[in-house]
Amino acid sequence: MKGKVILLGVSGGIAAYKAAGLCSALVKEGAVVHVIMTESATRFIAPLTFQSLAKTAVITDIFAEPDPGEISHIALADKADLVVVAPATANVIAKAAHGLADDMLTTTLLATRVPVLFAPAMNVNMYHNPVVQDNLARLRARGWLVAEPGEGPLACGYTGRGRLPEPEELVDVIRAIFRQKKDMQGLRVLVTAGGTRERIDPVRYLTNDSSGKMGFALAEAAARRGADVTLVTGNTTLPPPANVRVVPVESALDMHRVVLDLLPQQDVVIKAAAVADYRPALAAERKIKKTGDRLTIELVRNPDILADIGTRKTDRQVIVGFAAETNDVVTNAAAKLRAKNADLIVANDVSQEGAGFGSDTNIVSLVRPDRPVRELPQMSKRDVAEAILDEILAIRKDRL
Ligand code: C5P
Repeated sequence: MKGKVILLGVSGGIAAYKAAGLCSALVKEGAVVHVIMTESATRFIAPLTFQSLAKTAVITDIFAEPDPGEISHIALADKADLVVVAPATANVIAKAAHGLADDMLTTTLLATRVPVLFAPAMNVNMYHNPVVQDNLARLRARGWLVAEPGEGPLACGYTGRGRLPEPEELVDVIRAIFRQKKDMQGLRVLVTAGGTRERIDPVRYLTNDSSGKMGFALAEAAARRGADVTLVTGNTTLPPPANVRVVPVESALDMHRVVLDLLPQQDVVIKAAAVADYRPALAAERKIKKTGDRLTIELVRNPDILADIGTRKTDRQVIVGFAAETNDVVTNAAAKLRAKNADLIVANDVSQEGAGFGSDTNIVSLVRPDRPVRELPQMSKRDVAEAILDEILAIRKDRL
């Protein structure tokens, strides 16, 4: 953390006093800390406390421009390596989630392009209020980070979630943010996610249970690691990840066209989508009417996108497929690897609890040609995504 510039935004909750401990801990770690306080924060703790700890001027008033040569909120936003809002009140969270900028802190939040960490602290009922949770989800969807508050007795007399984490815990979170690898910088990565919809008529379609979670986690993680990411996604309800180009598609044929179009510019293609193998031979132009007791819909094969990529890929490209299986997982994955000319198959036993469709966790094996299979334990889809990206970088390294 030595020499890193951290903007510490303090908003007006009782936990504001704990921000002094955080400020002091960050200074001890060697960071240069600039503190911005909201008007209400100054009711809880004096700016002089932070000034004495950080040895920098504390800013409270957006109109007090001490240096005529610069505009404070832009200069600070540009100078920072990280912005930490601790404590983040429900009010500041709401303003940030909706882009309001009516004081120094919220204006600086809009002007910065560096990572922002919010540490919410409030009464347990306020924290669990759906409007606060919605606002936190908005912040996360934009790539801002949220440190989960701790559980315990709260200043308001209630017990529950809402405590500002202790300064040491927040310092650990901040250290981890600075350690975040940027090892995919300069790589162009295409990820497909979600299930496809195969039209029967204008109001009906065939689809599958894919939630898109694994592909979204991959796109998000690759973007965080510095890659230029395009996410080609079938239908999902997930919010688009931050800093990712999203191309929505409906059917397997759409996905096939888009992916093959974009293929030549990519360094890595990860096919996490659950692509329908068959589509109705004819999509009716009008809603099909109820007539007889039986209705037969003839299905025809869809192109295998992964296999088509496999025949076109260049030596520098890394192609990754998924294999959702219910039996003989590794044997089937190895066969798929050869059949589709992929560089890595992520094999996934969807019959196991905690793996596959809809789940937040996954249990996968990484299968590469001429390598021992790597079986990973049950992990969050986020951690699985990081492990897959690590393996992709290992494949690139092995080629050098
Ligand atoms: O052959 P199977 O469908 O089990 O292979 C799964 C892998 O192939 C996944 O990576 C999936 O995205 C891809 N796939 C595809 N086009 C299809 C079917 C599957 O790209 N039509």
